Amino acid sequence: MDEEYDVIVLGTGLKECILSGLLSVDRLKVLHMDRNDYYGGESSSLNLIQLWKRFRDSDKPPSSLGPSRDYNVDMIPKFMMANGTLVRTLIHTDVTKYLSFKAVDGSYVFNKGKVHKVPANDMEALKSPLMGLFEKRRARKFFIYVQNYNESDPKTHEGLNLTRVTTKELISKYGLDDNTVDFIGHALALHRDDRYLNEPALDTVKRMKLYAESLLRFQGGSPYIYPLYGLGELPQAFARLSAVYGGTYMLNKPECKVEFDSEGKACGVTSEGETARCKKVVCDPSYLPNKVQKVGKVARAIAIMSHPIPNTNESHSVQVILPQKQLGRKSDMYLFCCSYSHNVAPKGKYIAFVLTEAETDKPEVELKPGIDLLGPIDEIFFETYDRYEPSNDPSVDNCFISTSYDPTTHFESTVMDVLTMYTAITGKTLDLSVDLNAASAAEE
Ligand SMILES: *[C@@H]1O[C@H](CO)[C@@H](O)[C@H](O)[C@H]1NC(C)=O
Ligand SMILES: *[C@@H]1O[C@H](CO)[C@@H](O)[C@H](O)[C@H]1NC(C)=O
Ligand SMILES: *[C@@H]1O[C@H](CO)[C@@H](O)[C@H](O)[C@H]1NC(C)=O
Repeated sequence: MDEEYDVIVLGTGLKECILSGLLSVDRLKVLHMDRNDYYGGESSSLNLIQLWKRFRDSDKPPSSLGPSRDYNVDMIPKFMMANGTLVRTLIHTDVTKYLSFKAVDGSYVFNKGKVHKVPANDMEALKSPLMGLFEKRRARKFFIYVQNYNESDPKTHEGLNLTRVTTKELISKYGLDDNTVDFIGHALALHRDDRYLNEPALDTVKRMKLYAESLLRFQGGSPYIYPLYGLGELPQAFARLSAVYGGTYMLNKPECKVEFDSEGKACGVTSEGETARCKKVVCDPSYLPNKVQKVGKVARAIAIMSHPIPNTNESHSVQVILPQKQLGRKSDMYLFCCSYSHNVAPKGKYIAFVLTEAETDKPEVELKPGIDLLGPIDEIFFETYDRYEPSNDPSVDNCFISTSYDPTTHFESTVMDVLTMYTAITGKTLDLSVDLNAASAAEE
C-alpha cells in the first residue's frame, strides 16, 4: 500500500458511506475500511437470526415469525423527507438508480393522550380534531401565511422580518395556543426541543414549508419516503457510487488503528500490520474513542407485531412523534413502524420502534408511553446505547468524526451532520439545488 489516499474512511455506517460517496464524486482518492464483515456498522439492518443473536443469545427465532431472510430490521430506523436534504443528495449523486422508494403511509402526533394525523396545510388544519373551532381558524391563517411565504418576495412577509422575529413572536401574532404550538414545532417543523421558540422564525417557517411540499410530492399520507428492503440498502448504494468514481472498499479489516505524525496529525491507518497513508481520516466515534465525549444515551425498543399501530388508519408505515411536553419529559419520543409493504418483514408482520433520548437507566419503564400505543406484540427487545460527539479539533489533527445517531425517526439531523462534515473536510458547500420535479419525472 504505497500510494497515499486523500481520505481514509473508517466504518460503513450511513454517515460515513454518504461521505465517502460524496468525496469520491469530488475525485478525491478514497479508501473505505470497516472492522466488520458487513456494511452499516451501528446503522446496519439485521435479519431475524442476527436479531436473536444480538438480543437473545440464541440463533433460533420462533418459526411462527416466518423466514429470517425476509426481515431487514434497521438498527437506526429513519424515514426521509421526500424533498429533504438526503433525497436531494441521492438525486445529486444519482444514487437513486440503485434504490427503490415507496411513500410512507402516515405521519401522526401524540396529543392529550391520543394519536392524531399531523395536519400539514390550511385545509387539514380546518378538519383536524387536534384543535377546537376557533383555534382551527387561527391555525388556518397561520398555515396560509407559511404556505405563501417566499423569502425572496417581501410582499409575502406581511411586514415581518423573519430573520429577526422569533418563532414565539410570530406565533403570538396568530394567537395560537401552546397545544397547537407543540405539534407544529415538534411534529411539523421537527424541532427536538423548545429552543426554536426563541430563535428567528425563518428556520421554523422553512421547515414547515419543507413538510408541506414533501407531502405534495408523492400524494401519500405523509411527507416521508423509505427504501424497499430497508436502510441497509443505502450504505451499499453509496459504496457502489464510490466504486464508480474509483473509491476502494475493504470490509473485515481488524483493528484499523489511526496513525499520527510528530505534529499529532492523522497520516495513515494500520490494519493487519499494513499501513495505508492518507491526508485525512473520516470515521465514526468507535474508531477514535480518545477523541470523542459521551453526550447522552438513546433508549430503544424493537417490536415485531402482526398488525399496524392502532389509530393510524391501518398505516403499514408510519411515524408518530410524542412531544416532550405531552409526556412531561425533557425529550421527544418517536415511534417508527414499517412492514412487509416495504419488504422489511414477511407478509403480515410489522416492525415497530420506540425511541427517545434516555433520561433514566430503565428503558422498559421510560418507553412505556410509546409502547402502550403499539397494541399486542409478538416479540420485543430493549436496548440503550451511548451517544458520542467529537471533542477534537480537525484543523489540528485532520480527524473528522461523526456524531452518534440520535433517536429521531427522520433523517433531518443526520444529514445536517454529514453536510457539516463535508464542508469541514472539503471547504466547500454541497450545491443541492436540484430540480426535484425533473428528477421525479425521471423516476417514473
Ligand atoms: C418567490 O419570489 C420570487 C421573486 O418575486 C419569484 O421569482 C419566485 O418565483 C417566487 N417563488 C415561488 C415559489 O413563488
Ligand atoms: C431583515 O433583517 C436582517 C438582519 O437584521 C437584515 O440583514 C435584512 O436586510 C432584513 N430584511 C429586510 C427585508 O428588511
Ligand atoms: C385512510 O387511508 C386511506 C387510504 O388507505 C385514505 O384514503 C383516507 O383518506 C385515510 N383517512 C384519513 C383520515 O387519513
